Amino acid sequence: MAIRHFLQFKDFSRGEFEHLFARAAWIKAKFKSFETYHPLFDRHLAMIFEKNSTRTRLSFEAGMQQLGGSSIFLSTRDTQLGRGEPVEDAAQVISRMVDAVMIRTFEQDIIERFAANSRVPVINGLTNEYHPCQVLADIFTYIEHRGSIAGKTVAWIGDSNNMCNTWLQAAEVLDFNVHVSTPPGYEVEPERAGLFGQDHFEEFADPMDAARGADLVTTDVWTSMGFEAENEARKKAFADWCVDADMMRAARPDALFMHCLPAHRGEEVEAAVIDGPHSVVWDEAENRLHVQKALLEYLLLGKVEAK
Ligand code: CP
Ligand code: NVA
Repeated sequence: MAIRHFLQFKDFSRGEFEHLFARAAWIKAKFKSFETYHPLFDRHLAMIFEKNSTRTRLSFEAGMQQLGGSSIFLSTRDTQLGRGEPVEDAAQVISRMVDAVMIRTFEQDIIERFAANSRVPVINGLTNEYHPCQVLADIFTYIEHRGSIAGKTVAWIGDSNNMCNTWLQAAEVLDFNVHVSTPPGYEVEPERAGLFGQDHFEEFADPMDAARGADLVTTDVWTSMGFEAENEARKKAFADWCVDADMMRAARPDALFMHCLPAHRGEEVEAAVIDGPHSVVWDEAENRLHVQKALLEYLLLGKVEAK
């Protein structure tokens, strides 16, 4: 079987996502009932971090161990990657020693080059362009709370960043709609987002209009990692793109609120929203663990059927 990678959301088909969501539910239920499940005994995941992380590191590290394998944490600060070793050479070497690699880095091109030279599956743990593991967890969380996301409307309020791009790809693969509202100058770039077309999203100048009638309202930090030099300019530009209680009232009464975290209360979201009744952010964070275990199982063992 050819090696599969998960570098962006559209790398998988709708059928594959249906399998992953079913497996994530099964794996989660087993975990919650304290039943051991060790399909990845003696399998090892290398995790390369070029940016900070709490959830991604913890969920992959705990997840591999819970599946019977192990993980190895590498950062650019203390590997030869930080001293200019070509990414292609690093991929050749690292992928001869482990069974899978997870990478958090800057440009998508870096992870694509690594994958092109890897003997084992490569997983995107966040790049400037995409964050597919997070949206996998978000959609699984939506399904748990509300059922299928097909045909629903997701409102994206804020920066057209890696999370926004990934939501837009997911909408194309899983057939739902995204209402996007960004400040002027921060609009979606369809080519950078890697979209097939423009059928699954609509842009709104006013964030209230984007939120109107939405089934899910979601946002993210105004300044993503790697863009810190733009922080002051972004604070001014994004001041009106804060998800507040009025915005949630414009959405459907049963709308969910999500945020990939970490959050800045008082900037992209009001405390009353993220800590309020619509918010499912803690389930969303926890589900990183369960969906990524399903992803690791799929990439390393193929389609395991429920026992
Ligand atoms: N949401 C997310 O990826 O969090 P971390 O940056 O803590 O990994
Ligand atoms: N868009 C954010 C997500 C952090 C998990 C960033 O890239 O910093």
